Amino acid sequence: MLILAIESSCDDTAAAVLEDDRILRASVISSQFDVHAPFGGIVPELASRRHIEAIWPVVSQALAEADVTLSDIDLIAATRGPGLVGSLLVGFTFAKALALVRDIPCVGVDHMAGHLLAIRLEKEYPGLPYTALVVSGGNTSLFSVTGRTSFTVLGRTRDDAAGEAFDKVAKLLGLGYPGGPAISDMAGHGDPAAIRFPRAWLGEESLDFSFSGLKTSVVNHVNQCRRKGQPLPVADICASFQEAVVEVLVEKAVRAARQTGSRTLVIGGGVAANPRLREQMRQRCRREDIDFFAPSPVFCTDNAAMIGIAGYYSYLQGNTVTPDADAFSRSPLN
Ligand code: KG4
Repeated sequence: MLILAIESSCDDTAAAVLEDDRILRASVISSQFDVHAPFGGIVPELASRRHIEAIWPVVSQALAEADVTLSDIDLIAATRGPGLVGSLLVGFTFAKALALVRDIPCVGVDHMAGHLLAIRLEKEYPGLPYTALVVSGGNTSLFSVTGRTSFTVLGRTRDDAAGEAFDKVAKLLGLGYPGGPAISDMAGHGDPAAIRFPRAWLGEESLDFSFSGLKTSVVNHVNQCRRKGQPLPVADICASFQEAVVEVLVEKAVRAARQTGSRTLVIGGGVAANPRLREQMRQRCRREDIDFFAPSPVFCTDNAAMIGIAGYYSYLQGNTVTPDADAFSRSPLN
């Protein structure tokens, strides 16, 4: 079965062509970096408008790279939520319209399911069940993945997502948008032990997260330096902030695996591209005798290939949408 997948939940317009869940024939991602960079963050209305401009060229490029035409496609899978509703509506409506014209099925995909299954785009991926950490700009959640469409949430952030904290701290330090890669690069030049920022454990057994206190602590530290007229130790702040986030993510992910009795841990979402997180997770899992899997960075951040895989499994369960199906801003999985 040849699948055309579309993703437009936030600030990337993406399309992919897959043969079932096995062969990725093409994956195209058009970034909106140039649109949002001057504002230091995503402007939802501008995001929707750019999706409208980009959707057809991106889909056409994916079809061309896969060496197929629309008439070869058997199934269309598009992100239905969660995300920015204006952005979602562009990709999802486009997908439903294409499916209607071609008289083929269309599946609305939960973006979280995409991140939970993105590891299947790799040559080596784990069998089921596994524990998964999805850590992105909009979500920080732990899941138990027991089937290809069976996901149970174990814990989630009570305030900011980890990626949101990276983006806000980067903005505060004048490092630009998106903040995650900028902080991660700068952290490489700093000392992770220079400043002891707080870690929110929320109790010994809790699998929930909180990053707002950490963010406030960074703001206070920066204000204190400015008040004293001291130069800002930007690299040390980045390294120490990143360490505080990574330590909590690693500890809680391992805790979740332990609590569920799982010997396999998978990460996904934009922050999962962070080299320090990947390395610390790998080392800790080795010590705990847990198998650790992380998708390639390009499949951690938003992409349509993962939506194609999740859409295919959802289709096999009989979940197709009618033309009047609406997008959703919050995930029912979370
Ligand atoms: O999954 P994603 O592309 O979009 C959402 O669904 O949110 O994640 C984007 C988030 C942003 O907050 C971005 O700053 C963060 O992932 N991110 C990173 C890195 N690369 C992207 N955070 C930390 N380190 C990175 N290398």
